[in-house]
Amino acid sequence: MTNYTPSPNRYEKMQYRRCGQSGIKLPLISLGLWHNFGTNDSYDNAREMIQTAFDLGITHFDLANNYGPMPGSAEINFGKILKQDFKSHRDEMIISTKAGYHMWNGPYGDGGSKKYLVASLEQSLKRLELDYVDIFYHHRPDDGTPVEESMHALDLLVRQGKALYVGLSNYKPTEAKLAIDVLHELGTPCLIHQPSYSMLNRWIEEELIAMMDKEGVGIITFSPLQKGLLTNRYLKGIPADSRMAGDSVFLNKEDLTKALQVKLNALDEIATERGQTLAQMALAWNLRNPRVTSVLVGASRKSQIEDSVKAIENLEFTPQELEKINNVLL
Ligand SMILES: NC(=O)c1ccc[n+]([C@@H]2O[C@H](COP(=O)([O-])OP(=O)(O)OC[C@H]3O[C@@H](n4cnc5c(N)ncnc54)[C@H](OP(=O)(O)O)[C@@H]3O)[C@@H](O)[C@H]2O)c1
Repeated sequence: MTNYTPSPNRYEKMQYRRCGQSGIKLPLISLGLWHNFGTNDSYDNAREMIQTAFDLGITHFDLANNYGPMPGSAEINFGKILKQDFKSHRDEMIISTKAGYHMWNGPYGDGGSKKYLVASLEQSLKRLELDYVDIFYHHRPDDGTPVEESMHALDLLVRQGKALYVGLSNYKPTEAKLAIDVLHELGTPCLIHQPSYSMLNRWIEEELIAMMDKEGVGIITFSPLQKGLLTNRYLKGIPADSRMAGDSVFLNKEDLTKALQVKLNALDEIATERGQTLAQMALAWNLRNPRVTSVLVGASRKSQIEDSVKAIENLEFTPQELEKINNVLL
């Protein structure tokens, strides 16, 4: 692939929302590197997707220590791409990583201890070939570690200059409130919460969204397309080149029931009436709530990112459309 020059009008193609009560704005669409950026994936395809995203005004790229497979390889590949194409654009990018799931053997490679979190970010920075990340998350709550200890670790890493901001992921409302309070006392406010959220997974509507709003914490929702289900991919079956057909243990063939397929087709019809693809409608539906700062999408090819970004052209839903969607989801 030849040298890369970013599109000069990239920032006109995206909208940005302020993250909670912070000074940081995030693009409505952010790109996650959980799948398709690891050792077994095409480096050229990964590079093309990052370039495409940046050209469309996507400034936020989300990683974790364990993304691959091999665990760590998404950070290594992203580090290479940064070096190759984005050397002079680091200050235009928000790069996040996380620790909280199993990363290495023994008692210090999983969970929420200060030992694990501090060592893991050090390793991530080496793989990414960066001096600092913009956001460092505790990837999931750990009931084997006092929340104070995990939050002290995040605060320490900010004070050491290894992360600019900190976030929480997969924390339920009560756990999140405790962690946010500790961070507040330490003087390192929580920037953002990263929960799962989609038309098929609405748990955050009950309490979390309102709580984050009250706390001034932004929300970036992961798997807004329900790992690909809320797209045109599975309307007629399981494509051979899809995540479901591959070896991901997080999306299985049994997940695509006949009943779900009927719902997906009904949602697709509503999307068509709105002049959108199903993926675009699913993302717009997430973003209809201004308290959702950004949606964190995955992709397996450049054309999906191009398609998804067009969601921002129509974020408004009439009450009738919302009711129709709710009726399908019942
Ligand atoms: N904090 C956490 O615990 C956690 C957990 C999960 C994910 N995440 C973050 O969230 C990111 C997104 O997760 P996800 O990949 O599950 O998200 P997703 O956006 O729900 O699903 C992405 C998949 O949908 C399909 N797709 C995407 N755009 C499409 C389009 N426009 N048209 C048709 N199909 C489209 C692709 O499937 P195919 O690959 O089949 O083509 C793609 O791989 C991750 O990369 C990660 O950064 C965080």
